[in-house]
Amino acid sequence: MSKAFYITTAIDYVNGQPHLGHAYEKIVTDVIARARRSLGQEVFFLTGLDEHGQKVQQAAQAEGKNPQAYCDALAADWKAFAQKLELTNNDFIRTTEPRHKEFVQAILAKLHAAGQFYTKTYEGFYSTKEETFLTDKDRRPDGTFDPAYGEVIKLQETNYWFKLGEQQQWLIDYIEANPSFIQPDYRRNEVLGFLKNNTLEDLCISRPVARLNWGIPLPFDKDYVTYVWFDALVNYISIPAAHGDTGVLAALQSPIANRQSAIELWPADVHVIGKDILKFHAVYWPIMLKAMGLPLPKQILAHGWWQKDGEKISKSSGNIVDPIAVINEWGLDAFRFYVLRELDIGPDGNWTDAGFKSRYQAELANGLGNLVNRSLSMLKRYRNGVVPARSDELAPDAGKATDATRALLEKNELQGALLAIWSLVSRANQYVDQTKPFNLAKDPAQAKRLDEVLYNLVETCRVLAVLLWPFIPQTAAKIYAQLNLASAPDKFSAATWGGLSAGHTIGDPAPLFPRKDDKPAA
Ligand code: MSP
Repeated sequence: MSKAFYITTAIDYVNGQPHLGHAYEKIVTDVIARARRSLGQEVFFLTGLDEHGQKVQQAAQAEGKNPQAYCDALAADWKAFAQKLELTNNDFIRTTEPRHKEFVQAILAKLHAAGQFYTKTYEGFYSTKEETFLTDKDRRPDGTFDPAYGEVIKLQETNYWFKLGEQQQWLIDYIEANPSFIQPDYRRNEVLGFLKNNTLEDLCISRPVARLNWGIPLPFDKDYVTYVWFDALVNYISIPAAHGDTGVLAALQSPIANRQSAIELWPADVHVIGKDILKFHAVYWPIMLKAMGLPLPKQILAHGWWQKDGEKISKSSGNIVDPIAVINEWGLDAFRFYVLRELDIGPDGNWTDAGFKSRYQAELANGLGNLVNRSLSMLKRYRNGVVPARSDELAPDAGKATDATRALLEKNELQGALLAIWSLVSRANQYVDQTKPFNLAKDPAQAKRLDEVLYNLVETCRVLAVLLWPFIPQTAAKIYAQLNLASAPDKFSAATWGGLSAGHTIGDPAPLFPRKDDKPAA
């Protein structure tokens, strides 16, 4: 049995509606998943919702609902959102599902039996907003706590703790020996800096029911529920286990039976996450996995954060981008394209409406859209839509763009891959300007030259559809449909030059990215 390429997103807190940041992460992950499938790999893509913990309980209370009913209602919106983005996820985890809860309890029982937990009474500071214990080390130079922690209270509480103390050195060694484990490099250096300059505090893995009851009960103590992060991180293995991942089930000697079909997913190939939750994924999660006897994920890929107009995205100040509104107005592909083209995976990004419109106009409408529309329209007008004999003038350019795109996709460099693809768009538009097929068409003596030019143009459009499929799948499918090709542009191998055969009749061209100013006012 071969192992699938297993890729995950962070699971979102279900305490409101999805925004640009959530959408970006899911689209990045979807493009990587689609690209790998296009390149011939079997892929399992997991996304979902983090439904336990204080944030969700408080949000439910604020609406006067019980937390499960609150989560059920919102989960429907989030699932619809995943569909709106046309994510190709293979499963959707909700941490309130029995398949996840029973697995978390099985792990807790195993680690407890192995002596990994101990009880301790803690007296100190606690951030309710971040559900985390703080020490004096967390204070800023002026003695205050970061406002991100919200209200910080004094607390005395007995809890279960997970031993992290002895784990620091092997983790440092592992990160140093495996440069691709945390990417980009500057995030890796951040984690190494943290681990080298601080002593790891043990992790509190429980919350007393008396204070918070919206969580998975500890199997060995009914007075406690599981700390939300211990619950949430485990989704990355509970779902493989639910699908019958033999490695995960064997390591945990899980008593959970069933398992229709055996599958090999773990270790994950990529965990795509935001920079704010790097410590949970790059420090706590590896240590948890080691304690469970499971291998570490191959890569943690941390993206940056979006701002809007240079300011933090915030519901309270109204500074938001509503992905659904943008998609309804401009189309899904325009949204997917903008976020992927604008922001490389790593640094922070800034959404501006003007920037969005400008990329739509310049790169989508005038660049790609114009190329495809004029190429197909000219074939229709001058040759009745019938593809002429093969000609290879643009084949080297297409080959170069294809090779570059493949190499960049294999490294998850999505913005770079879009740049490589657009170099072919520009080359082909330049080719139209240089060869002037509209002039050739006026001179019967140039018929053969016109055939060559038209072949090169429509075949380039076809290759572009294949290269674009992971990024803007609706557009790629439209190009194939306008070329009257029955297959989907979802196999990278089809980017090889010469796919269009002489004598094939294309369909009807239609603008891919209508100019907005052409549209009658609503
Ligand atoms: N529930 C936890 C993750 C558990 S993963 C085992 C969580 N949820 S979250 O809803 O707050 O964030 C989910 C993801 O969205 C995170 O990766 C986070 O970085 C990302 N983003 C939230 N706001 C963002 C931006 N403004 N920009 C980009 N990504 C952002 O954390």
